[in-house]
Amino acid sequence: MEGVLFPKGVVERREGLKEYRSRGGYQALEKALRELSPEKLIQEINDSGLRGRGGAGFPTGKKWAFTRECAEQPHYVILNGGEDEPGSKKDRLLMENLPHLLIEGVVLTSYAIGARKAYLYINQDYAAARQSLAQALDEAKEAGFWGERILGHDVSLEISFVSAPTTYVAGEDSASLEVIEGKPALPRQKPPFPATVGLFGKPTVVNNVETLANVAPIVARGAKWYRSFGTADSPGTMIFSLGEEINKPGIYELPFGTSLEFLIENCGGGLKGEKKIKAIMPGGPSSAFLPGDRIDVPLDHNSVREAGSSIGCGVVRLVSEGTCIVEETLRIADFFAAESCGQCPACRMETNMLAMILKKVQQGEGGPPILDQFSKVISFNKGKGFCNLINMPGPPIESALRLFRSDFEYHLANGKCPET
Ligand SMILES: Cc1cc2nc3c(=O)[nH]c(=O)nc-3n(C[C@H](O)[C@H](O)[C@H](O)COP(=O)(O)O)c2cc1C
Repeated sequence: MEGVLFPKGVVERREGLKEYRSRGGYQALEKALRELSPEKLIQEINDSGLRGRGGAGFPTGKKWAFTRECAEQPHYVILNGGEDEPGSKKDRLLMENLPHLLIEGVVLTSYAIGARKAYLYINQDYAAARQSLAQALDEAKEAGFWGERILGHDVSLEISFVSAPTTYVAGEDSASLEVIEGKPALPRQKPPFPATVGLFGKPTVVNNVETLANVAPIVARGAKWYRSFGTADSPGTMIFSLGEEINKPGIYELPFGTSLEFLIENCGGGLKGEKKIKAIMPGGPSSAFLPGDRIDVPLDHNSVREAGSSIGCGVVRLVSEGTCIVEETLRIADFFAAESCGQCPACRMETNMLAMILKKVQQGEGGPPILDQFSKVISFNKGKGFCNLINMPGPPIESALRLFRSDFEYHLANGKCPET
């Protein structure tokens, strides 16, 4: 489909300045500087219902307003391209292929919140993305779209790059502040949140790459147009990622509210080998499993939550019949144990304990009472870390246990997979 973000065909190649301009690129910026006050621009984003695409789905306009209203100066904008979520490459593809759309989004955001300095915080392994953005920045500066006195108005902006370490927590918003300040990528305690006390202690908007890609189209065509895509609770489109277990892996931009079935079957061509779906993870490794027959669930925040899971940043993973859920869950628990930065004792302890208990179950040790340990460890540690990583292993483990308890019991009784 032709989406809000990707014009036909551009998903596979880079769009240069000329092509971007020919389809109305930078007209949103011209319009904003000519006729929209920063407050009006924030109102437009509020009216559009744009929600963050970095995982939490926080309303973007609301976040901007917190920062805009802070008297403390200066204000900063950070484009969060840290992307280290397993299976996600949507931010990389946006940065590589639609660099001008992102730059326009960054300049508009900076104008809205009153920032004179913006940082492009990009996964250090994304050399092509950085190169593409660097080239686009040169072109855009020469055309007067950022720098001193943008398009002749009394608005100026400096933009620079910072490399994001390739660790999972480096993408967390407060960890990005630490890195930009020249420190290790460790999350900060919150509150205060970055929107009010951020980079160098100053009000800072941190937004995901995909979130900021939506800004220029909204400003150019209006909140009402934007709301013609998606649902009332989740307006617009979202980029969903399908992995190698699917016939046609890749990214697909779809209106929120599209069914999982459409994404999996019509876009992805179903599971490889015509296998049946045993379980669905609709939002990356921290989302709860849904049973394989829930392909009817519409992909929007409310519907996925009502079904018992979360949409995260749109990485949809399928587990096929014949796969042991204990092994799947152990892989996820090992991931969180490895990626916990170790700063918060509760997170370090929780993630390691969960992985250790799962390992025991996998090897048939402990007997059925060991299965009660998961919820005890998870509920004891809930919310006790500086960042949300501590809450991430809970949903996949608890849902796996609820939906596929017999897999766990089989492992405990036999020390091997029921599926082998
Ligand atoms: C462990 C962890 C890793 C995260 N990694 C990313 C990331 O790579 N990119 C991202 O945009 N947000 C990431 N987030 C979410 C950010 O903290 C933050 O919510 C987001 O950048 C805000 O942007 P948004 O409102 O546009 O979604 C991560 C959060 C946690 C807890």
